[in-house]
Amino acid sequence: PLKLAVLVSGNGSNFQAIVDAIEAGRIINASIVCLISNKADAFALERAKKHNISSIVLDHKGYPNRQAYDAALVELLRQHEVDLVILAGFMRLLSPTMIDAFPNAIMNIHPALLPAFPGLDAQQQAFDYGARYTGCTVHFVDKGTDTGPIILQSVVPILGSDTVESLTQRIHGEEHRTYVEAVRLFCAGRLKVEGRKVIISE
Ligand code: GAR
Repeated sequence: PLKLAVLVSGNGSNFQAIVDAIEAGRIINASIVCLISNKADAFALERAKKHNISSIVLDHKGYPNRQAYDAALVELLRQHEVDLVILAGFMRLLSPTMIDAFPNAIMNIHPALLPAFPGLDAQQQAFDYGARYTGCTVHFVDKGTDTGPIILQSVVPILGSDTVESLTQRIHGEEHRTYVEAVRLFCAGRLKVEGRKVIISE
């Protein structure tokens, strides 16, 4: 089976969705070998405990710069012989140190339809912009911010009755479904990157 590592900073509901999918046999040929959080108080750590998944807190405060932190991250992931790194609300940019160590093997989920509304507070950005549709994007991570090859996207309409909270909640629901599907495809060996494009094979 492929070895997955999930990186988080907070709640971990996307991590939970992937755990549930593996346990239910909806993702096969994969196991989560570790959860890594840069925050000691991330709720995701409790979720890991509940499912007997080993977890590690790697606090960025202990490192002089991003590169040093990422080097520690790479070492940890190599120790665990990780095949796929899954960013699930990991609120740190990755340096070339990480990207070069895992080419086309780091996935991220972003709460908007990229390339619209990259960066922080994407739900708020779409809401404030007055967009009629937003959604979520699962993509491979490259050296830019939210610029990597797109794997899957799901559309969420912005309703007249929405608040940014209700919108965020609906996007979250789509994220769980979309992320599980992207990880499932990866683990089935069905994703191939050609330039900017991700080819999904039968
Ligand atoms: C998700 O909405 C994810 O799209 C977002 O953080 C949330 C984590 O939720 N990620 C980003 O904004 C990345 N820039 P979760 O901890 O419940 O999975």
